[in-house]
Amino acid sequence: MKYSIKTYGCQMNYSDSERIAGVLETAGYEKALSEDSADLIIINACSVRQSAINKISGRFKKYKKLKKINPDLKIVLTGCVLESDRKKFEKMFDLIVGIGEMEKMCWFHSSVRAVEPACKIPHSGSTELSPLWSQRYSLRQNKFSAYVPIMTGCNNFCSYCVVPYTRGREYSRPAEEIINEVTELIKRGYKEIILLGQNVNSYEGKLEIGNWKLRNLKYQKPSVFNNLTIEQFNNRTISFSILLKLISDIPGDFWIRFLTSHPKDMSEELIKIVAECEKVTPYIHIALQSGDDEILKKMNRKYTAEHFLGLVKMIRKYIPNVSISTDIIIGFPGETERQFQNTVEIMKKAKFDMAYLNKYSPRAGTAAEKLNNNVSRAEKKRREKILTEVLRETALENNEKYVGKTVKVLPDETEINKLRNWDTGILFGKTENFKNVRIDIGNWKLDINGNSKQYDNMYYHTENLTGKFLNIKITQAGAWGLEGEMME
Ligand code: SAH
Ligand code: SF4
Ligand code: F3S
Repeated sequence: MKYSIKTYGCQMNYSDSERIAGVLETAGYEKALSEDSADLIIINACSVRQSAINKISGRFKKYKKLKKINPDLKIVLTGCVLESDRKKFEKMFDLIVGIGEMEKMCWFHSSVRAVEPACKIPHSGSTELSPLWSQRYSLRQNKFSAYVPIMTGCNNFCSYCVVPYTRGREYSRPAEEIINEVTELIKRGYKEIILLGQNVNSYEGKLEIGNWKLRNLKYQKPSVFNNLTIEQFNNRTISFSILLKLISDIPGDFWIRFLTSHPKDMSEELIKIVAECEKVTPYIHIALQSGDDEILKKMNRKYTAEHFLGLVKMIRKYIPNVSISTDIIIGFPGETERQFQNTVEIMKKAKFDMAYLNKYSPRAGTAAEKLNNNVSRAEKKRREKILTEVLRETALENNEKYVGKTVKVLPDETEINKLRNWDTGILFGKTENFKNVRIDIGNWKLDINGNSKQYDNMYYHTENLTGKFLNIKITQAGAWGLEGEMME
């Protein structure tokens, strides 16, 4: 039996899909080459904007055809699905299931479970399982960079957002579980750990450090607990800052990133820890959404533009080489030109390295749905263009500082371009500041038969360069990325 997974949405959903793949393979499914040859198709949905939901509806013609060819084909919808869409999708899917109950996805093809009697996946009582129970099955798509969910859900109820409805209330994974997972990943050679949560700043996980310490004897007592006895720090609930510190105490050469932060919860303590811990990369994603206080209030964001700018100032004070990215919503109901200009101003002042600009999309069941979505599509487009220009300028200004400098890069992709007389090798990677870098590793002339020794060398060379930290000299900067060359 073969499965195929189609993922929409944010990193949380990509991480969830890695767990789905792990659960299905543990049950005996194999990955299909494409949806056409699958017996089980899983759609991992995102509802954050209407466009993602429309894309899912758009796939149904194809699925109807596939079902005619393979009557055994089952199609499952999971991920972030709104109650109101559920009804519409009920007729289209064989099963709609919450991400916390992914074991149910394997229940269709009984032959699969029969050939895998050792399958440890629980078949009942999933309500007793924690929302991230299946993380231990995670089948990672990347060999060097790993998503590690530390929490799921959200309690904030920003007025435009579906996440509290689709993912439910916040749940923090026990710290020990996270630390053990990261330790294992580092042993397996992972170089980048991306800690995931909708609002990592409100992480509150239990730390049974007594057990953890006994099982990991080589660890010293973490410095953050220096003034406490083991009894005092056992069974405590710890903050995200302490979790970061503990993870950065794990031996090995690796980067730690985290996504995403809420401006109302970002503390000075956390910023200091990012500054102090060498493994925590100098990159912070913190969503502004709007630069206007009235709009922020209508969004239920619980901070002001001034507070946000104060945070940016504090981040830059403690972490001088930091990169900052953000999310903006364009054309929230009632956003006037003056209010939009406040966002333009704050974007100029904050000098973001990157901004994800999202045109407001009304979502069923959210508080903002009741507001008049009065900013026209054309106006949203115009505002997006203006913000893109501001971003282009600040991003370029920030990137130009790297020209001539040597930076650490983790390459994760290679590209070999076959030209008529030449092959070119290109390496793509990210700096610790989360900047894209393109590294040209040279032109290689082909021999008369079109397959030279150099080509083999280059191929070998590029394949071996991915997943290892390299020192790269930056030669050029653009707004959206850097170019660099290998240091001999
Ligand atoms: N928890 C994260 C955001 C997750 S959703 C945070 O608070 O930072 C990712 C982004 O999608 C949001 O930051 C927001 O900019 C955008 N978004 C959410 N709902 C939206 C909507 N209804 N219309 C347009 N963009 C939206
Ligand atoms: Fe949505 Fe706000 Fe929660 Fe982010 S903090 S997931 S924007 S409700
Ligand atoms: Fe979308 Fe769910 Fe992420 S709604 S943005 S996939 S948390």
